[in-house]
Amino acid sequence: MEANTTENKKVIFSGIQPSGDLTLGNYLGALKNWVKLQDQYECYYCIVDLHAITVRQEPKNLRAKTLELLAIYVAAGIDPDKNTLFIQSHVPAHSEAQWLLNCNSYIGELSRMTQFKDKSAKYTNVSAGLLNYPVLMAVDILLYQTDLVPVGGDQKQHLELTRDLAQRFNGAYSETFKIPEPYIPPTGARIMDLQEPTKKMSKSTENPNGCIYILDPPEVIRKKIARAVTDSIGVVKYSDEQPGVQNLMSILSTITGMSYDEIEKKYEGKGYGDFKKDVAEAIVAELEPLQSKVKELLADKKQLEEIYSKGAQKANYVATKTLRKMQKKIGFIPVSR
Ligand code: AMP
Ligand code: TRP
Repeated sequence: MEANTTENKKVIFSGIQPSGDLTLGNYLGALKNWVKLQDQYECYYCIVDLHAITVRQEPKNLRAKTLELLAIYVAAGIDPDKNTLFIQSHVPAHSEAQWLLNCNSYIGELSRMTQFKDKSAKYTNVSAGLLNYPVLMAVDILLYQTDLVPVGGDQKQHLELTRDLAQRFNGAYSETFKIPEPYIPPTGARIMDLQEPTKKMSKSTENPNGCIYILDPPEVIRKKIARAVTDSIGVVKYSDEQPGVQNLMSILSTITGMSYDEIEKKYEGKGYGDFKKDVAEAIVAELEPLQSKVKELLADKKQLEEIYSKGAQKANYVATKTLRKMQKKIGFIPVSR
């Protein structure tokens, strides 16, 4: 099968773990941008199930969340015919190449990663997988000769490490990997927690009222927005003194395309009630079609199976090519055909 890389488009790779529930932050900050990239770039969007098991997952739940995440990708508008949508564990080259790159990574640099330090402080039995997590992420990116990686701020350090590991390998064994760059989307809205608007909205939050999940039913969304923390100033204004209002404005603006000026004018002389209602309705209008599409897809497992099988085939072709290159350069003897 021919790889779909003949058009000389730049390659994008990104992935989300099928653990926890995706938030409005993930949707507006990541998925919605991925959709915009699909015409201009050759995109690989992965469901990183190997990453998810760095902490213990309930098998039944992992299966369900993996399919749900694929359904969310498709429902968000990521076209499986234009992009390579695949499940990481379907491409064995990721695990194989990770060993090779592990042997070229240092415990020192891995244990200095902020995410490792945070997570290893949180769990009692810290798995070796948690330490090696960024090496697997590096392999994800490097196997596809990726140019650009859309990631949030917390993953920038891992991308830096990816570049270091790639350069080290290239230096030791000659040019093998393209050196990837981070991709910062032009309109990267950072959605904040509804209860603590100075903190990023995150799926690992302790207070679920602070966080809207992509699959929250409309009445839950309305309730969470109604309860969102604002202030006693009572004026809809984009001001640093009003982080709660600022956050709601940024949500409304990202969804509707209205500017902050337009929003301020629209709610001049009105309290927060009308404004919050409109924010809630905008979110509901944005997420409801996605939710029904997710339901439809999850009811038709055959269609999902076709999508991930096709994705795995494409991904395997490209990833195996890079893996063979690595093996050859390291000095492994190819199996005779
Ligand atoms: P995470 O859920 O932190 O693993 O992030 C997955 C992707 O969603 C990353 O690309 C983040 O940039 C994006 N993301 C997560 N939370 C937010 C947020 N509150 N606002 C904007 N983007 C977010
Ligand atoms: N580590 C990323 C996160 O938690 C997920 C991820 C795994 C990823 N492999 C990747 C992101 C490759 C971008 C590219 O968000």
